Amino acid sequence: MNDPLLSGKKILLGVTGGIAVYKAADLCSKLVQAGAQVDVILTEAATKFVSPITFSALSGRPARVDMWSEGSGQPIPHVQMAAAADLVIVAPLSANTQAKLALGLADNLLTATLLATHVPWVLAPAMESHMWANPATQAHAATLRSRGAVQVGPAEGRLASGAVGVGRMAEPVEILAAARRVLARDGPLAGRRVVVTAGGTQEPLDPVRYITNASSGKMGVALAAAATDLGADVTLIHAPLAVAAPYGVACVRVRTAQQMCDAVLERLAQTDILIGAAAVADFRPAAAATQKIKKVSSEEELTLRLVRNPDILAEVAGRRAETGRPAVVIGFAAETQDLLANAAAKLTAKRLDLIVANDVTEPGSGFGADDNRVTLLFADGRQEALPLMDKREVAWRVLQEATALLQHGRDA
Ligand code: CTP
Repeated sequence: MNDPLLSGKKILLGVTGGIAVYKAADLCSKLVQAGAQVDVILTEAATKFVSPITFSALSGRPARVDMWSEGSGQPIPHVQMAAAADLVIVAPLSANTQAKLALGLADNLLTATLLATHVPWVLAPAMESHMWANPATQAHAATLRSRGAVQVGPAEGRLASGAVGVGRMAEPVEILAAARRVLARDGPLAGRRVVVTAGGTQEPLDPVRYITNASSGKMGVALAAAATDLGADVTLIHAPLAVAAPYGVACVRVRTAQQMCDAVLERLAQTDILIGAAAVADFRPAAAATQKIKKVSSEEELTLRLVRNPDILAEVAGRRAETGRPAVVIGFAAETQDLLANAAAKLTAKRLDLIVANDVTEPGSGFGADDNRVTLLFADGRQEALPLMDKREVAWRVLQEATALLQHGRDA
């Protein structure tokens, strides 16, 4: 799947001197793999650590260093590169270049180009911890932040000197995530709050055993990522997940259906869009034993008494009838038979705006899989069957519909 945010974007990647340049090569590669066009400018100091050829090879475009030997039909490359860029990333950012940027100096190709840009800067400082702690460095960092630059890191950890302290460059995935957040901030869900539930709840039997289901949480994680890409403030309320939660999402980890229900209801008044993608246990053991349940040799059977859990989306429907919040509520229906009839019944019973129905018995689709074949059923009676697609694409489609429903509600 194409990266909806980075694909086709023109990124200007500045690389300054420091041992972390090896991570900048990885960042460059990740940006290119996401479909971005990456133009790299290195400072003279950066070339002491790595050759520009590394970045030319990774980006498929000439990596530049020198202001004066450009030629190649580009008389003023810094102005042209600055005008073309959608986003600037400087990683690693040395104390020296940070100071120059804060002061507005333009004494090399990188600083001259950055001075001519009118797009956001994502800065990943990396330096020895005493240099970072120095009041001059701190003041320059604060100046750049106050002008709107987004600073990622530096992190605490082992530094090139062998010492441990604050100064390590943030990891490429974090810088990439920060860049994606910056690109998303004018998206259609900017300023909107989206809550997504994900994962299979666990209902304890005793301290070491629980009842759960086969949900991996992949669909919910993909929904949270897609909502973030559209600019929303996203909270992921999740039971244990088999995949990592996306960067930039506020995570609330829960275990049981009751905990998930409490976490959802607590946030309801501030939520614009709620998406219930969690596989919530409908029943829990009547009482969780405080000690491990022992088997008694004379007994061949063990009977468990289960009691009903709250239906989270039904609780939401009740409150929403009074407050009108959340504006949009979307559910999922995981079915093994009579897919559309069962999904339609849940759409009505839980008073949803949209239900995403999927037959979990279909090969390559449903629990744990990377793909999903779903049908969208809307409260107004519309239905749309989508082909088998990557869960991230399904998420993107669902979020587009959620955005339209939110917009429609505002216009109505
Ligand atoms: N759901 C919920 N609370 C529950 C059970 C389900 O909020 N206690 C939500 C799920 O997150 C999903 C939708 O309701 O968005 C449908 O879940 P599903 O498990 O398919 O259906 P159930 O309502 O549990 O009905 P059944 O188990 O009878 O199919």
